[in-house]
Amino acid sequence: MDAQFWDMKWQKNQIGFHLSAVNPLLVKYFPILELKEGARIFVPLCGKTLDIHWLLQRGMKVVGVELSQIAVEQLFSELGITPQISQVASNMLCFKAENLSIFVGDIFALSRALLGCVQAIYDRAALVALPPAMRITYAEHLIDISGKVEQLLVTLGYDQSCIAGPPFSVTQQDIQRYYGADYAITCWDNTSVAGGLKGGVPATESVWLLKPE
Ligand SMILES: C[S@@+](CC[C@H](N)C(=O)[O-])C[C@H]1O[C@@H](n2cnc3c(N)ncnc32)[C@H](O)[C@@H]1O
Repeated sequence: MDAQFWDMKWQKNQIGFHLSAVNPLLVKYFPILELKEGARIFVPLCGKTLDIHWLLQRGMKVVGVELSQIAVEQLFSELGITPQISQVASNMLCFKAENLSIFVGDIFALSRALLGCVQAIYDRAALVALPPAMRITYAEHLIDISGKVEQLLVTLGYDQSCIAGPPFSVTQQDIQRYYGADYAITCWDNTSVAGGLKGGVPATESVWLLKPE
């Protein structure tokens, strides 16, 4: 899954991962993060998720990173906000508005200095978008640039032999391996995905709270 893969998905509007409503799991479990109004929350691999609209409405400051400029332009357009756009690194743009900054580029090129201080991470369809070989590097990088803040993580579990990812199946053991040395990990929800994944493969969506240790 390289940049070209995702770019093509956005160009062809093949964005089945994009929900047409705010993720009910975010609405249900956001309170467990216990964030105060004005807290800054990082949404990695954010696409144009409506969850960002909801977080802003809740008084959060949101910072995201997304490879596709198409996605970010659509995000701002759907929010009805005109961003200030600046080149913040040779391979990174920043689309900025009040309480919202979205970096356009590869998360692995995003530094702690560029990201700035955040109080929490909301990862929905980010970890599961990455193939197994990239996930350890992703988890380490996320911890490195965020300063190991708490995470609300939404994953999918299913029989990986039935379909190829993304989204990839991520098990409890995987999460323990990626994050167990840095976080106390609690599972808050396991819900069957209605209708299954891609043609009906049974799948479970899980919600995890990762608390820094
Ligand atoms: C499965 S989608 C999820 C989007 C969003 N989190 C949501 O819930 O709708 C994964 C997104 O990550 C972006 N992406 C993939 N690899 C990336 C990377 N290395 N850096 C930044 N964004 C990336 C893709 O362009 C895509 O929009």
